[in-house]
Amino acid sequence: MNASISCFSPTGGGEKVAQAIRRGLEGCAPCSDVEPRIFAVPVYGGHMPALAKKRFDLVRATADGQPAILVAVYGNRAFEHALTDLETFVRERGFRPVAAAAFVCEHSYSTPDTPIAAGRPDADDLQAAEQFGRLVGQKILAGDPASVRATDLQDEPSPEASVKRFAAFVREFSARQAASPRPFVPEYRADLCSGCGTCIAACPAEAIGSDYAIDPARCIACCACVKACPAQARRFLSPFARPLAENFSLRKSPRWVV
Ligand SMILES: Cc1cc2nc3c(=O)[nH]c(=O)nc-3n(C[C@H](O)[C@H](O)[C@H](O)COP(=O)(O)O)c2cc1C
Repeated sequence: MNASISCFSPTGGGEKVAQAIRRGLEGCAPCSDVEPRIFAVPVYGGHMPALAKKRFDLVRATADGQPAILVAVYGNRAFEHALTDLETFVRERGFRPVAAAAFVCEHSYSTPDTPIAAGRPDADDLQAAEQFGRLVGQKILAGDPASVRATDLQDEPSPEASVKRFAAFVREFSARQAASPRPFVPEYRADLCSGCGTCIAACPAEAIGSDYAIDPARCIACCACVKACPAQARRFLSPFARPLAENFSLRKSPRWVV
């Protein structure tokens, strides 16, 4: 069975997961009905990013009730409202969500010193994503696939003390930012830059000018430029990296509802 993909994936984790789900679907017999569309988005602040909504804005179901497969990828903290955001978004465009899943991918703010879900999706995650694709394919082939609700998929709980510590950090950080705002954008190390333009092309927010300066008003701090730069000329020492690494190091597993 073929599937189309709508994916917003600045650092590539969601793209890998979406491709693995598609491989699982391809293992199923061809579909005589309308083919499904996979929607994959990262979780930003517990929600679907505004820029993903903008990117997918013109996507419409090719037939009323075209099956949609909802996928949120997150950095091992929590996916919270992202799948329900995505569900509302695709329903408004004529799709019927027939499955939803949350997969862990390396956190955009992960660094060697403060690893957060580093290396994920790993082989186990991708195998799980293929299995999920096969299950969804079987459901679609059985005919008239029932709609699912993203609210049926709950976050895997983190230790209460970790959640509280992280919430306290976020409160303090927000208060500090309100009192004296600091730009929340990746650094640019001109001495390392070879001027190849990779970061300019990689930025999904078109926030990097031809002089390599980042426009803080456009930057969404997604770290696409950091991951893409072949010369390590972009670095983002996010204040969130350490509290995330310290409080959300317990491995979470893929979750889905089909
Ligand atoms: C601005 C921002 C906010 C984020 N918020 C969350 C979050 O609320 N929960 C979480 O677990 N991960 C969060 N992450 C991590 C991303 O969801 C994670 O790195 C995801 O895998 C990125 O997807 P991609 O590799 O497809 O771009 C956030 C990342 C960024 C850049």
